[in-house]
Amino acid sequence: MNRGASSQAKRRKGELRLPAEEGSPLNFAGYHGRNVMVTGGAGFVGSALVRQLLDTGANVTVYDNFLHGSRANLDDLKGKIAVIPGDVLDEWKLLDAATGANVEYLFHCVGDTYVPTAYDVPKRFFRINVEGTMNVLLLAKRTGMKRVLYVSSTEVYGEAQAPQIDEGHPLHPLNTYAVSKLAADRLCFSLFLEHKIPVVIARIFNAYGPRETEPYVIPEIIAQLDRGDTVRLGNIHAQRDFTYVDDTARGLMALMLSDAPDGTPVNVGSGFPYSVEQVAKTVARLMGRPNAKIVVDPKRLRRYDINVFCCNNSLLRKLTGWVPQVGFEDGLQRTIEWFREHGRRWSWEEFVDETVMYR
Ligand SMILES: NC(=O)c1ccc[n+]([C@@H]2O[C@H](COP(=O)([O-])OP(=O)(O)OC[C@H]3O[C@@H](n4cnc5c(N)ncnc54)[C@H](O)[C@@H]3O)[C@@H](O)[C@H]2O)c1
Repeated sequence: MNRGASSQAKRRKGELRLPAEEGSPLNFAGYHGRNVMVTGGAGFVGSALVRQLLDTGANVTVYDNFLHGSRANLDDLKGKIAVIPGDVLDEWKLLDAATGANVEYLFHCVGDTYVPTAYDVPKRFFRINVEGTMNVLLLAKRTGMKRVLYVSSTEVYGEAQAPQIDEGHPLHPLNTYAVSKLAADRLCFSLFLEHKIPVVIARIFNAYGPRETEPYVIPEIIAQLDRGDTVRLGNIHAQRDFTYVDDTARGLMALMLSDAPDGTPVNVGSGFPYSVEQVAKTVARLMGRPNAKIVVDPKRLRRYDINVFCCNNSLLRKLTGWVPQVGFEDGLQRTIEWFREHGRRWSWEEFVDETVMYR
């Protein structure tokens, strides 16, 4: 049993007050003074990664077309990073941006990411997620980058066939987003084999925290509880392995510099699943609404939903010494505080009044 699994067993006796884990500090000296590009750096994970990279003394360039990433996610970093507006499907602009910045390491965080959107625009998901990744990989070859890290997803595994999912778990993606993520994930492997492109694959489990760009469950719960005492949700029994986004970012940075062989997928996730209902009750308590009503709204059920995702992160721990540092309640509290201090609105709320896309 990995360390995550044993702490998980301990946690079940209590509740969500999971303490942060202790581990040796990760060594990020390899980024100091290096030129690093984050594609999708205006997005949720990308913007957290940009902040962590800046702390190491890296020179950071963001490349993003702001499809759902937000300029506000980078506002406080003006003057500290270069931001190049551009589409990963525009190969020449991407080449220009990467050569101009002399990029050595590239974190590929671009994605068409919100599962229900693919019900309407499935082809767009394949263009951005698969063709976009191909462009980034060929760019890395052409410019001789040291390494690319592709941000893949837990969704490539589909329904869990074991209590914890390790990298050897069968790959049975069950929605169009997931199939596009797997195609790109496997493309990293095949282009490494055929062209020796230096790429490592991070399969990340659900990240949460400030600056979410889509109506995923935690920001949705926070937004609803900010407005009143009722939370309307879809499948409240679904369990997800939630990782605070700064921990996810640190995992990606450690993996990039690790000895993980090129072409290899590595899971990044805390190893602690919580049900949507548990999350809603905890957020309600933290927001001072302990008696909030949780209502299952059939309109919000997805067409097909996965029951449980729980990450076996042994490989990442072995390769890098990474452990999640932010406990779950602490992470939720930080997210709520960020929401309250930043206008009590998530970026997508400019476009939709409620999560009509839960279908
Ligand atoms: N957030 C999670 O919990 C999670 C879980 C598993 C995998 N992932 C993967 O991690 C990556 C980042 O996810 P996120 O949650 O930060 O999503 P996000 O939507 O917030 O970020 C994606 C970014 O890509 C940009 N983008 C989209 N299409 C583009 C294009 N054609 N050219 C340039 N930029 C483009 C968007 O504007 C956005 O800033 C994605 O690849 C996603 O599939 C995320």
